[in-house]
Amino acid sequence: MHVMVVNTKAYREGMGSEAIKIAKIMERVGRETGMRMIIAVQHADVYRVASNVEIDVFAQHIDAIEYGSHTGWILPETIKEAGAKGSILNHSEHRLTIDEIKKGIETLRKNKMESIVCASDNQIAKALAVLEPDYVAVEPPELIGGDVSVTKAKPSVVKNAVENVRSISKAKVLCGAGIKSGEDVRKAIELGAEGILVASGVVKAKNKEKIIREMAEAMIE
Ligand code: G3P
Repeated sequence: MHVMVVNTKAYREGMGSEAIKIAKIMERVGRETGMRMIIAVQHADVYRVASNVEIDVFAQHIDAIEYGSHTGWILPETIKEAGAKGSILNHSEHRLTIDEIKKGIETLRKNKMESIVCASDNQIAKALAVLEPDYVAVEPPELIGGDVSVTKAKPSVVKNAVENVRSISKAKVLCGAGIKSGEDVRKAIELGAEGILVASGVVKAKNKEKIIREMAEAMIE
């Protein structure tokens, strides 16, 4: 099933009640189109958003720690208890070591939560797929937040990531960076991606419903 992941990052337009508004639109559009919708929100918003919608809410990061004396760290169990179904790991704005990524995936799996691990190119996507996350999201950092989509600027990175990951793992491949239109999404699916990881194209859009619908519909065509 194709999946649309919206990462609200720390955008003003994607926090608190705004995160709920985006999640509600995603819920509605998800029901209408049959697409799986995931919203990755700020930790402090997980409980609030998850209590208001039925779509899957993810954290943007977790720390692979156990219960105990860890002040200020993000315990996966707490995030799960708050309603999260999974987490992004190693976003290019929150990079981790390979060991931290490995432990993060294992800790999430132990808690029956899903993982979306980010990779900056297709080689790294392959290396991280060995760790068997649920999803590998390929996002060239230089295109993140810009107006040129990864599917236009670097289609071969997406295509090769899909092939590389498929050859060694069951992980599904998402792509992201600069995705702004239904056309960008259509191309992502054509290149073999299971879905998209998008932030500014949705969160900063004036008409969020219009773009969420356009992107979701592009995944069914
Ligand atoms: O996590 C998604 C992200 O890094 C892509 O950001 O703003 O280019 O859609 P954006």
